[in-house]
Amino acid sequence: MTEHRRITPPSGEPEGRKRRSLIERAGDVFGTDRLGPFAVPRDLPEPRRPVADPAPPEQPARAPAGDLGPAAPPPRVEPAVALAGPRQSVDRERLRDEGLIVPEEPVTGQLEEFRIVKRELLAEARGADDPLARRILVCSPHPGEGKTYCAANLAIAMAATRDIEVVLVDADTVKPSVTQRFGIEGGPGLLDVLADPAIRPESCVIRTDIEGLFVLPSGSATSRDSEYLASARTGEVLDRLTRGAPNRILIFDTPPALAASPAAELARHVGQALLVVRADETSRAALEDARQLLSACPDIKLLLNAARYSPSGRRFGDYGKARD
Ligand SMILES: Nc1ncnc2c1ncn2[C@@H]1O[C@H](COP(=O)(O)OP(=O)(O)OP(=O)(O)O)[C@@H](O)[C@H]1O
Ligand SMILES: [Mg+2]
Repeated sequence: MTEHRRITPPSGEPEGRKRRSLIERAGDVFGTDRLGPFAVPRDLPEPRRPVADPAPPEQPARAPAGDLGPAAPPPRVEPAVALAGPRQSVDRERLRDEGLIVPEEPVTGQLEEFRIVKRELLAEARGADDPLARRILVCSPHPGEGKTYCAANLAIAMAATRDIEVVLVDADTVKPSVTQRFGIEGGPGLLDVLADPAIRPESCVIRTDIEGLFVLPSGSATSRDSEYLASARTGEVLDRLTRGAPNRILIFDTPPALAASPAAELARHVGQALLVVRADETSRAALEDARQLLSACPDIKLLLNAARYSPSGRRFGDYGKARD
């Protein structure tokens, strides 16, 4: 690991300047353009190429002249699997206590911040042919930097977009906290689905009463979780949840990248990653280490979580005025 240094946040923005997104401001603080080295890691593995030339495609049998024959069947598009887990109500009081966005309440500075970020992420997700762009990993180097806070707020903000379904996946297998923050019951989840191929992933996805918002709990931990996450089953499960569903976004809340393996494992299965950084606490060296660990993801953006908050998470007033 490299030596850790604190980063000094730059002074406030000039008067009258348009509010910059938390992604843009993270770039200001850490001196990285979001399209710079974080977006395109130099150490990406070379894409795998076939060893031998593939066999030429089979020629379809010719119909006799004048006979158009039966019409070719349309290409088979697999329909999206319906998310079919239990229905549960999110505790609005709990959301408020946790400093999370309460959907029915007036627009706050906090909601506005996450709206700007969600637009940026959705633009990438919708513009890409690759379904992986619709899977977004939320990570940070260390504990307590605001991963769950940002992942949950982002999920709530995104779910408010018409026609978008968001599945917030609690991939923090070490210290899961998504269901508790939403005040909903946990249950079988990601780890159970990975361990047992007989469980259909969609049956574990909780349908919340916030329109468009779904939660896949972390599930029951075992000593083989890292092994399961590293297995081919992870890709199959995530494909099943995203296949044929261009309007479905998966957001993964993960444990700290420098402390546990899930984020690095999942980086292989997502098209976008958000590295949450605290301007006053995250060092550039820790960030670089985390970036290396996530380098299987082709698009890593920094997200500035610069609010001053108490460890109990009870002080949220400063969020909209996050230091620039
Ligand atoms: N911008 C913010 N404004 C107010 N409170 C915040 C903010 N970011 C995080 N918090 C609060 O700080 C505490 C730590 O945040 P959170 O749990 O999201 O961090 P984490 O990175 O997920 O931690 P862990 O690595 O332990 O999972 C929580 O109580 C959370 O509500
Ligand atoms: Mg967390």
